[in-house]
Amino acid sequence: MKNLVFNSEEHSVKISFVNRTKKICELIQEDRKYCVILDKKISSLHAAFHEELKSKDFLIFLIDEPEKQKNIHTCLEVINLMQKEGLNRNDAVIGIGGGAITDLAGFVASSYMRGITYFQIPTSLLAQVDASIGGKTGINYGNIKNFIGSFYNPSEIIICAEFLQSLNQQDFLNGFSEVLKHCIITSKESLDKLKNLAGEIQNRESNILLGLIEQSIDIKAQVVTKDFKEKGERKFLNFGHTFAHGIESINHDAPILHGHAVLIGMLMALDYSKELGFLSRNSCQEIKDIICSFSYDFSNIKLDAKGIFEAMKSDKKNTKAINLILLKEVGQPLLFEETSNDNLQKFITKFIDDFKK
Ligand SMILES: NC(=O)c1ccc[n+]([C@@H]2O[C@H](COP(=O)([O-])OP(=O)(O)OC[C@H]3O[C@@H](n4cnc5c(N)ncnc54)[C@H](O)[C@@H]3O)[C@@H](O)[C@H]2O)c1
Repeated sequence: MKNLVFNSEEHSVKISFVNRTKKICELIQEDRKYCVILDKKISSLHAAFHEELKSKDFLIFLIDEPEKQKNIHTCLEVINLMQKEGLNRNDAVIGIGGGAITDLAGFVASSYMRGITYFQIPTSLLAQVDASIGGKTGINYGNIKNFIGSFYNPSEIIICAEFLQSLNQQDFLNGFSEVLKHCIITSKESLDKLKNLAGEIQNRESNILLGLIEQSIDIKAQVVTKDFKEKGERKFLNFGHTFAHGIESINHDAPILHGHAVLIGMLMALDYSKELGFLSRNSCQEIKDIICSFSYDFSNIKLDAKGIFEAMKSDKKNTKAINLILLKEVGQPLLFEETSNDNLQKFITKFIDDFKK
């Protein structure tokens, strides 16, 4: 088992890495009461782990279809249960599931009695490399995602590779986009590692995945530690995201996987970086070849250039110019404020035409 520690604004966050779910409970000291907020899918796919949780004196709150339940009503149900069972400020919440569960559990922990200890056990790759790091908690309100939330770091995060074996391929790749992004904005060495380990990654070899997750967490943790409230360097983590938000926005009727939109967004950001002369043709192609060697399925994603452009323009963050994170070279992102709507719209039209071919 490996450990990593990073310092948040309030306290240090300990991250443990284990291969098997049976190691998880050994890491939780039974010195207080715990409310476990658990994804129902995990309870059935990892039944032995669920049995072990039940054998402890934990209060367990199961959540089915977590993204649909990521709302204030579910929070209040959990809070009512915790209050009824007499949990106090010395007790703790444990969130076990994908990003929807960890966001909700973090929000409950940050609000209950003005904040109690929070343990996070992310089970999807997206949650392990992205949602678990950076202290953002949140719930959806009305139709708006993450409209209510807080910045609140867990005290401990436990990453277990065994959970990743039960993810379907596209959910796995959904999280892998973040691993790719972290490498592209950080260093050629880490991106080359992904290229060389492509087979092992697709076969989900636990030790390889744990190494990559650790590296990805380290990258995100370093960036967010320097810039917790997203005023500077943390913006680089949005590489590909401005385009991706446009894609997600025109697909709102039948929501698509965020990581898949980000992947297309990164391809767009790479091409636009090349078109504007920031990134060389060779580097652009080399990065795209690595990205495209993984089997993403984009067949259910609607792509309409005009719609994507309009959605990017209407984003509240893009008041005077459209803010894009582009790339000079692997490991060298830059913030570019695009003021020419015409150039950008022409680029998107051409990119989408070529992408559909
Ligand atoms: N806090 C942050 O910084 C941050 C960052 C990115 C995303 N998010 C949030 O995270 C959520 C997306 O994350 P997600 O993709 O993990 O969503 P999710 O929690 O909805 O999980 C996706 C699906 O995978 C299932 N699942 C989870 N772990 C599994 C496993 N080990 N095996 C099989 N199935 C499993 C879930 O039941 C669900 O059906 C969104 O709500 C998003 O807003 C938060």
